[in-house]
Amino acid sequence: MQIYLSRPDITQKEIDAVCAVLRTPDLSLGPKVREFEQAFAKYIGRKRAVAVNSGTSGLFLCVLALEIGPGDEVITTPFTFIATVNSIMMAGATPVFVDIDPTTLNINPAKIEAKITDKTKAILPVEIFGNPAGFDKVCEIAGKYNLKVLEDSCESLGSALNGKKTGTFGILSVFGLYPNKQITTGEGGVILTDDDRMADVCESLRNQGRGKGGGWLEHERLGYNYRLSDINCALGIVQLSRIDEIKAKRRQVAKWYQEMLSSEKRLIVPAEPPGCDVSWFVFVVRLADPSAAQHRDKILEAMKKRDIQVSNYFSPVHLQPFMVERFGYKPGDFPVCESVSKSTIALPFYNNLTKDQVAIVCKTLKEILDERKNI
Ligand SMILES: Cc1ncc(COP(=O)(O)O)c(C=O)c1O
Repeated sequence: MQIYLSRPDITQKEIDAVCAVLRTPDLSLGPKVREFEQAFAKYIGRKRAVAVNSGTSGLFLCVLALEIGPGDEVITTPFTFIATVNSIMMAGATPVFVDIDPTTLNINPAKIEAKITDKTKAILPVEIFGNPAGFDKVCEIAGKYNLKVLEDSCESLGSALNGKKTGTFGILSVFGLYPNKQITTGEGGVILTDDDRMADVCESLRNQGRGKGGGWLEHERLGYNYRLSDINCALGIVQLSRIDEIKAKRRQVAKWYQEMLSSEKRLIVPAEPPGCDVSWFVFVVRLADPSAAQHRDKILEAMKKRDIQVSNYFSPVHLQPFMVERFGYKPGDFPVCESVSKSTIALPFYNNLTKDQVAIVCKTLKEILDERKNI
């Protein structure tokens, strides 16, 4: 039997909520969108939420709302999902990478200042794997240089740093709602902000550039159709109402992994950094010995052969073929990101993973490591 990398957690409540919308004529632009946005803004503790059809479109609209475009630079991390960086490039701006901290795996605040130029408009940090470590320091630097922070919270719904929730660090922040996330709407994303003007711009941009109170065929600006339907929002409302339960279930799965792998010296097992309340997104272990990294892909293959889905989160963004072609990046440009990327093994991780399944994953991984004597 396969043990999956990730699975959504859909109960009868979600099914009923979606079916109820399907019995109405309001499949889109109806009341569930506002209801979802209001519940989301309340949960995060921000004034406004704008629901969109993906985390990527949310980030892109935020870059546009910040009036960042050609000639501007945005500082970000190379250790992320590609969409973070694409959102900058889609707006015609240039991503400027800063290497990561080897412990938190987030952008290294100590290395940011050296990359700030007179073209820098914003910093786009990511709470990688749900972890908000270092975000206070990133905001401090942004404040010192009068830069905006756009927070990529796509992986961190429910996390906090020193009691401050993720999604409240940036002037704008974005959550992702793809089915592997803490909660899902099928596809979707949510922009959060306290700034009414920017929220209004994002609402207009997601809806073909229409204005508040304007007609269906009146367009104030170049816009997009990035709307999230009422069907998706109905699913999201129920999922969000279960966030505490979901967070607790994921914490339990993470704890089982931590316990079962605690004596495993060949692995670096993730733990909650000081001051962080992590809402676990994925569970990514790393090979402890850098020279063992050469075996990583074989280990992934061996796990998959034994019906356990695993992944190599994340491959360095700056070394993706189109980035190399466009900017001329080469191996060695961001060495911490590159060495971390070579050593990661994302293990199966989702709400309803059982203790027995976690035990099978850990036992199989240990056996595969044993088969390779020099790790
Ligand atoms: C860090 C990060 N940023 C952005 C995204 C993009 O979100 P989506 O897949 O909803 O477009 C993701 C989603 O996987 C992500 O993990």
